[in-house]
Amino acid sequence: MISVLIPSCNDTSLQVNSPDETIQVRFTLKDGIPRYIITKNGKSVIEPSAIGFVLRGQSGNSTDHSTDRRTDQGTDQGTDQETDHKTDLGTAYRLVSVEESSADGSWEQPWGEFRTIADRHNELVVHLVSAGRNGILMDIRFRVFDDGVGFRYAFPEQPGLDSVVVMDELTQFTFPDDHQVWWIPVHSENSYYESLYRKSQISGTDTINTPATFETHDGLYLAIHEANLTDFASMTLRRTGARQYVSELVPWSNGVKVYAKAPFESPWRTIIIGEEPGDLVTSTLVLNLNDPCKLDDVSWIEPSKYIGIWWGMHLEKYTWGQGPDHGATTERVMRYIDFAGEHGLDGVLVEGWNRGWDGNWSEDGTKFSFTESYPDFDLETVASCAADKNVRLIGHHETGGAVANYEKQMEDAFALYQQHGVNAVKTGYVNKYLDGSEWHDGQYGVRHYRKVVETAARYRIMIDNHEPVKGTGLQRTYPNLMTQEGGRGQEYDAWSGDGGNPPSHTTILPFTRMLAGPFDFTPGTFDFGYRVVEGTRVNTTLAKQLALYVIIFSPQQMASDLPENYEGNPAFEFIKQVPCTWSDTKVLDAVIGEYVTMARKDWNSDEWYIGSITNETPRTIELDFSFLEEGLDYRAEIYADGAGADYLTNPEPVKITYRVVHAGMHMNVELAPGGGTAIRLVPLP
Ligand code: NOJ
Repeated sequence: MISVLIPSCNDTSLQVNSPDETIQVRFTLKDGIPRYIITKNGKSVIEPSAIGFVLRGQSGNSTDHSTDRRTDQGTDQGTDQETDHKTDLGTAYRLVSVEESSADGSWEQPWGEFRTIADRHNELVVHLVSAGRNGILMDIRFRVFDDGVGFRYAFPEQPGLDSVVVMDELTQFTFPDDHQVWWIPVHSENSYYESLYRKSQISGTDTINTPATFETHDGLYLAIHEANLTDFASMTLRRTGARQYVSELVPWSNGVKVYAKAPFESPWRTIIIGEEPGDLVTSTLVLNLNDPCKLDDVSWIEPSKYIGIWWGMHLEKYTWGQGPDHGATTERVMRYIDFAGEHGLDGVLVEGWNRGWDGNWSEDGTKFSFTESYPDFDLETVASCAADKNVRLIGHHETGGAVANYEKQMEDAFALYQQHGVNAVKTGYVNKYLDGSEWHDGQYGVRHYRKVVETAARYRIMIDNHEPVKGTGLQRTYPNLMTQEGGRGQEYDAWSGDGGNPPSHTTILPFTRMLAGPFDFTPGTFDFGYRVVEGTRVNTTLAKQLALYVIIFSPQQMASDLPENYEGNPAFEFIKQVPCTWSDTKVLDAVIGEYVTMARKDWNSDEWYIGSITNETPRTIELDFSFLEEGLDYRAEIYADGAGADYLTNPEPVKITYRVVHAGMHMNVELAPGGGTAIRLVPLP
């Protein structure tokens, strides 16, 4: 059964269930107000919550209808071109018709946390018309999967609705209870989600970013986010009651939320529903709600690990700009290339090679040139040296938020890189605003970031986007969007005034930030002895740094420390071996904010890898190897916290041991305070 239609007088109630019948979505239209309700196995997930938009129409190709509508609404406030009617679509609707369908298929990813993604869902489309003589047509499309629910709005082509200004979205998320929520604030700390997660009750929050993750009293884990953010503003959640949020779209500087042209669709509003924290991690809902790949050929898209002229700048050992300590000199880059070649790493990121870094680059990015090198850096020489060593440069475009300056140079900049065999570029937008006035996560930013990914694809270039708009699964459509920042990464452990990321941070990320997609977190610290800011450094043990390669997914994965800190350390072997794309992922055990253990299968072989991490509390984790293939023995290469390891006092000791394990076995691992364990499992012949 997909849906039930229960018309009673003017009221309507429609239901659509997940294929496994555990999730039920009900759509109701009562007194003209559309609402949705979600339950999971009879437990309330979302209580009746209203849905809709506030639009301000513009008369495009004016028709009789649009003239009528303006008269009908009686709120003509503007010129002929714009603002000639205001329509609160939250008021009243009539049901026009209903469609239902279902899908049971699967699709393959070019890289990811799973090779194959099952797409099983039931769909209900409700066609509505707003009340009044010249009502506006609006569809709501619900898709219900076994792992959650997505719904989106569509405004079909219709007479009188041409250009549209979205002033507000009215989607409510009403919970049955004042749940616990893991959240970060919107814009108050920075514009690009680089905050530590807080845990509080809903009533202790104000406006929060998505993904926002909830734990209910009856044992459910929920994550609210969005999928396929295309030419729209991102959604944040504004608290409107002890148990309720409403969608708050990030505005343009003039207050408008979205400029659109019918026909158009909103991004999907997504609610992942799980019974264990790990269900959030393994959910594929967001990917399933994105469009299939738009690139004809993806053979050039290759996950890889990289080092970089990077940490040295954050440690204030080198500079981005010119001077005696300039980092990106030809000579130093060649040394890094040698190191990468020797150790089988594919890429060397080079930051600070191009002109524009001198002075206040993060306040005024208009001086950046993306094609002119500093005199002590020779792109041609280093690119050919890299090619000789089977290594590639990773390019860098820091814009300082000056998007217009970047867009003017973008084609030339990508063409230059392509000409030198550079097929991956890290972009950056350090500034509170883009072009002095627009948020990174408003429609302005969303349009720009998409333009970069599409342009880069034409030059066969992969993108690692820092200071981005949050990920919403677009890597399905554009798999050259490899990874993003959009979270508080390890760089904070160099210069943050607050002591750096606490040990709990990485035990929260898999259930929050990571639901938005790959994260260029930059793990890999081996030297804990630096002091840029007294009291601030990486708050983990070295073994936990290794485990993060399994826990934090990024198909472009950095070995972030200086090459000299890896030389001669046997633990580096794990970083050399660990894959950065996986054919399968399992969360073996987790308590959000306390510990996480994951197992992931290599994309290219039958090897498995395990990462287990803890917060500041030491603990013993019992590993259950039942996920391994029955009947096979595996050589386990175990990188565990060594004797006396402690993230505060003694982070370095790593004990490397080997043993044979198989599916029926259990094994205890000891995690030090702030510690972790990384294991490689190689099937034995
Ligand atoms: C901030 C980025 O996150 C960091 O990785 C980069 O090195 C600097 N901006 C400079 O672009």
